[in-house]
This record gives sequence, C-alpha cells and structure tokens, in this order.
Amino acid sequence: MENLLSSAASHQTLPDSFVFPADQRPPASTAAVDLPVIDLSLPRDEVRRAVLDAGKDLGFFQVVNHGVPQDAMRGMDEACEAFFRLPAEAKAAFFSEDPARPNRLFSSTVYGAGGERYWRDCLRLVCGAFPVDDATRNAWPNKPHGIREAVERFLVPTRALGMDLLRLLCEGMGLRGDYFAGDLSGGAMVVNVNHYPPCPDPARTLGLPPHCDRNLITLLRQGGAGVPGLQVAHAAGGDWIHVEPVPGAFVVNFGHQLEIATNGLLKSVEHRAVPDAARPRTSVATFILPTEDCLVRPAQELVDAEEGPRYRAVTFREFMEVYKAVGARRESVEKAFRI
Ligand code: OGA
Ligand code: NI
Repeated sequence: MENLLSSAASHQTLPDSFVFPADQRPPASTAAVDLPVIDLSLPRDEVRRAVLDAGKDLGFFQVVNHGVPQDAMRGMDEACEAFFRLPAEAKAAFFSEDPARPNRLFSSTVYGAGGERYWRDCLRLVCGAFPVDDATRNAWPNKPHGIREAVERFLVPTRALGMDLLRLLCEGMGLRGDYFAGDLSGGAMVVNVNHYPPCPDPARTLGLPPHCDRNLITLLRQGGAGVPGLQVAHAAGGDWIHVEPVPGAFVVNFGHQLEIATNGLLKSVEHRAVPDAARPRTSVATFILPTEDCLVRPAQELVDAEEGPRYRAVTFREFMEVYKAVGARRESVEKAFRI
C-alpha cells in the first residue's frame, strides 16, 4: 500500500525513483497547436469529413455535443475524484499488483521494464456486458456511495459514442458502416481512471510515459476540474504538444488495432501525461478493444493491390504478448508488426 501515491499524506520532494533523465523527459513545445474540436451535432456529412481529416492529420481530436449527457460525465468525474480521496484503508481493499485481476487499483510501474515509476495511481474497471449485468457491476468498487451507478451511467453512452465514431470513420474510408462492429470491438471494455496527485517537481517526472494505446479506439475525459496534463507527439515537429481541456469534451485517439485494421490510414499516435504542481488531476480513459481471438488485419479495401498489406495479421492475444515484451513506444511496436 505504501506504493499508492494518493494515500501518502503529501509530497514535499520528488523521490529519486520518480526522476527521469532529462533526455527522456523533454519539455513540451511552447508552440500553440490546437487539436481540432469537432461538433458532432453538425450535419453528418460534415462531421464525417472532419473526423476523418483530423484522424489522418494529427491522429487526435476532441469532440463536443457528442450525446453523452453532461450530468453522466460530471457524475463519473465526481465519483472517481471521491474514490481517490477515500481513506487509505478503504482503497486498500481494492489495491492489487496482480495484472491478471481485471478490476483493481494500482500505482506507478505499469509500462516500464526498467522499474521507472510514474506519478500516477490507476483504478482499472472492466465492462464486458452491455447491458451491464450484476457480475460486472459487483466487481467494481462499492465506495464511495453511488460509484457503481455513476460508472454505469457514464459507460453505456460512452461506448455508444465510440461505436458511432467508428461508424463515421468507416463511412469516410469507404468501409461498410459496421466493419468494426463484431469481434474487432467485441472485447470487454476497459476504463482506466488515472489519478495524478499534486507533484513537488512535475518537470522532472511523468504521470504516464510516452505510449500508444494498444486497443482499437480511446475516448478520454481529461478531467472535470479542467487541469491539463495530456501531451501529444506532434508528427511534424517531433514536439510534445499540450492539449488544452475543453469543458464537457472527449479527446479521441486511435489504438494500434485501428492502425493495423486501416492499413495505416489512421495512426496510433504517441502521447504522455504530466502531473501538476498544485492540483490533483483525475482523467478517465475508455478503451474499446477486440476480443482476444480476433484476427486483426488490414481491411482489403484499404490495401493497395501492388504494394500489398503494410501490417501482418495478428490475433489480439498475440499482439498483447508482443506489446508487453517490446514496450509501449511506437517504434518498437511498429517494428514488430510492419511488413
Ligand atoms: C491513457 C492515457 C492520458 C491522460 O490512459 O492511456 O493516455 O491524460 N491517459 O491521463
Ligand atoms: Ni494512452
């Protein structure tokens, strides 16, 4: 339990184990590059074009008027913030360092093979059934009061939004609208509630290391309190750009599975998170994933007849084994799956 950042009294100095060498923690660019903010209530033709353009260009965008009720988002933010404020003993009941346990609370060393520590606690929740059933619900924490209801009220429309974005992308790319509807999106949905406590020396550490998401598509709530922290690799400059939170929005990005399935038309872009010196930040990342047995491969329609596919076909299970072994950096994952 002493590993849980949010259960320590407060942090006066940054412990050495959290310090990153300067070359692994370049500062963010001061250049202002804004992610496109797409209004999903505009006519569908316009939205389809905007989503695909933004997806092909930066690989990251934000959506507003997306149909997930604002009170469901607020309820989720508040329940998650309250969870991390629970007394240490209440959180201890949910803490586990066993990665095989789907629903659990853990801290810090998630991606690094080298034992680096990140300034983050994480509550991971899994939802395999829509509509949500009792077995799913009962595996979630039951404190603070009302958290299960808040999670369910948030997750159901958030999944629907993710599926609708996939449909829009399909239409834009010339795939049938339900191309991603089966096994490609049929795995249990995973939610990472990331909590970054105030950090005494944010410039020398990271909340999350540079990584690409391993799933199909990600919908991220930057956090209800409006504290920024997400930074995205800007393909053009090799810079890290800071993503300004937009109230009520989701940040959308693509995981490796969407990159493989679209033969690289939509790319999985590296991103990282930095903590804030004064304010805690709680973000909610919702991941849509393939089933473990799903064979992920480039869609025929997006493969050039002469050039052939750019990625090899891989079951999601095998992908995850390789991903765990090579680490989350884009370059190493690409090397393992590019033809
Ligand atoms: C993630 C992630 C960013 C953030 O959970 O995969 O990239 O801002 N989170 O918390
Ligand atoms: Ni991520």
